[in-house]
Amino acid sequence: MLNLGVVGCGNISSIYFTNLKGMFKNRVNVYACADLVEEKVQAAAKEFNIPHIMTFEEMLECDEIDVILNITEPVNHYWINKAAILAGKHVYCEKPLSIEFSLGKELVQLAEEKGVYLGGAPDTFMGVGIQTCRKYIDEGLIGTPLSGVAIMISRGPDCWHPNPGFFFEKGAGPLFDMGPYYVTTLVNIFGEAESVCAIGRGIGEERTFTSKAQYGTKHINEVETHISGTIKFKSGAVATILMSFDVQNHSPLPEVEIYGTTGSIKIPDPNCFDGEIKYMIAKNDGCQPMPAEGKYRGNSRGVGLAQMLNAIETGKPYAANCYQTLHVLEIMDALLKSCREGRFIEITTSYNRAELLDVDLPVGEF
Ligand SMILES: NC(=O)c1ccc[n+]([C@@H]2O[C@H](COP(=O)([O-])OP(=O)(O)OC[C@H]3O[C@@H](n4cnc5c(N)ncnc54)[C@H](O)[C@@H]3O)[C@@H](O)[C@H]2O)c1
Repeated sequence: MLNLGVVGCGNISSIYFTNLKGMFKNRVNVYACADLVEEKVQAAAKEFNIPHIMTFEEMLECDEIDVILNITEPVNHYWINKAAILAGKHVYCEKPLSIEFSLGKELVQLAEEKGVYLGGAPDTFMGVGIQTCRKYIDEGLIGTPLSGVAIMISRGPDCWHPNPGFFFEKGAGPLFDMGPYYVTTLVNIFGEAESVCAIGRGIGEERTFTSKAQYGTKHINEVETHISGTIKFKSGAVATILMSFDVQNHSPLPEVEIYGTTGSIKIPDPNCFDGEIKYMIAKNDGCQPMPAEGKYRGNSRGVGLAQMLNAIETGKPYAANCYQTLHVLEIMDALLKSCREGRFIEITTSYNRAELLDVDLPVGEF
């Protein structure tokens, strides 16, 4: 079994530790953990019974460690991924792969040169919600998929988060923070993107935080806080993407909805592994809930990593691979570029959708 070193014992780490030591325990040995904050790493090691506490630099030197799970803040993704790849380790990284497309591209090239696996979040598209919707669409339930919407509009995390500054800095904003879930869903439905265009607002504006801990703190937005974009896919389909931290309230809206020649389908929240699937047939006002099948429900974070570990051992393909995360990163980067340069941006990376998961296999088997 492969040995894993986990870098970052922050908010998201507990679900990874829970699942890697639980539902995926036959797939990986969680060998060591690291965090810059001593109390965090001690607490994680104790709670999840992890045998070794190390620094990231010690992990790089440790021959026992085969794979690095990078769940640090986005600004640290690039250099940690790069150092791990250069040390000959396989890497799985939380989203985004890096905060700039050019850096992500460099990482993928480096992983190819070093012959190591590189994968990345999100893996919610491997949950029963998106997997089943894709199956329905691929089977022709809504005819030919022509268009879709992906919507995440909110007041922004500064109304509740104790330390919200980073959400308004490079590598975040609504697009880079939440966009990976939505864009990953869209490419899983429509396939490879061809070009994008977008208009945004909010960059350079002063924002006044309203969370209890930072009430009244002023902060200048380094990124757009409202982005309205369009993605054209090679298939000819077109999707509208709306990502905002500037909406105080709104009437019910779908997170993702896909429109085809004979009907429409509402996909569950792409930040979740399951949720209600609704099918709407043409010329009919009603909508019908549809059953979902598969193994990954609830919070199954780590399934992307588990499948990558299986791929390392068996040579089989894995879905949350670096070509998908890079394509998604390029689309997001291009949307921002379009906002800033006022023009269409061509997408240069290629992308092939992974096979759907086999619903008959047990959890952790691929
Ligand atoms: N919090 C969530 O709900 C959530 C959900 C999905 C994805 N994510 C993603 O997960 C990643 C981490 O998010 P988080 O909320 O856990 O952040 P966090 O700030 O709570 O934790 C990150 C941890 O990484 C540690 N760290 C940074 N550099 C390090 C280094 N060189 N060596 C060792 N430790 C280091 C920090 O000390 C910190 O404890 C982000 O990419 C985020 O987008 C978070």
